[in-house]
Amino acid sequence: MSKKVLIVYGTRYGATEGTSEEIAKVLRSEGLDVRVVNARKEKVKDISGYDLVIVGSGIQMAKWTGAAENFLKKFQKELASKKVALFVSSGAQALIEYEKKTEEIEKVRKQYLEDKAVKYNLHPLSMVIFGGVWDFNQMSFLFRKTLASLKPKIEEAGFKETKPGLYDTRDWDSIRTWAKEIATKF
Ligand SMILES: Cc1cc2nc3c(=O)[nH]c(=O)nc-3n(C[C@H](O)[C@H](O)[C@H](O)COP(=O)(O)O)c2cc1C
Repeated sequence: MSKKVLIVYGTRYGATEGTSEEIAKVLRSEGLDVRVVNARKEKVKDISGYDLVIVGSGIQMAKWTGAAENFLKKFQKELASKKVALFVSSGAQALIEYEKKTEEIEKVRKQYLEDKAVKYNLHPLSMVIFGGVWDFNQMSFLFRKTLASLKPKIEEAGFKETKPGLYDTRDWDSIRTWAKEIATKF
């Protein structure tokens, strides 16, 4: 029987949903039985039947979504002894990398991932920061105004609008490579 994988994600703007579906596609092509759950829309009741649990979240103001964080909290005991992987969608990552701010890269990795693993006593197979989506159309007026100064930086880092006001910094190849590695490790 195929091994069972649960992917639980939290999203505010949709990027983490797309990333989760892509991870699922790769894992399925590797023969795994994968269920993908939006943590805000569906409450997972039991994780005992899964061989691997992948938890992902979008980052806003350096924070995970409440729904993804609540999933970690709720199942922390079971997750501590399970195979787990964590990922986040971060709009800032590509900019930090472009500017080669090494200290900042380490700081956000600790803040977004390592601290989370420590907080919930997890020992993930892998933790990774993927790119996110800057969608200026979906932001509140205040956020749009505050973050407008980022647009030139995003463009300087090499990203073009895919639609007016939307910049997708996800690197699909690195997402697929990570998913393949997870399938192999696991
Ligand atoms: C108001 C706001 C604040 C954000 N803060 C951060 C941040 O602190 N760090 C970061 O890496 N990205 C930040 N981002 C970019 C998001 O990580 C990016 O939009 C990501 O795709 C969100 O994932 P989601 O679409 O699944 O919610 C922010 C975006 C918005 C709109």
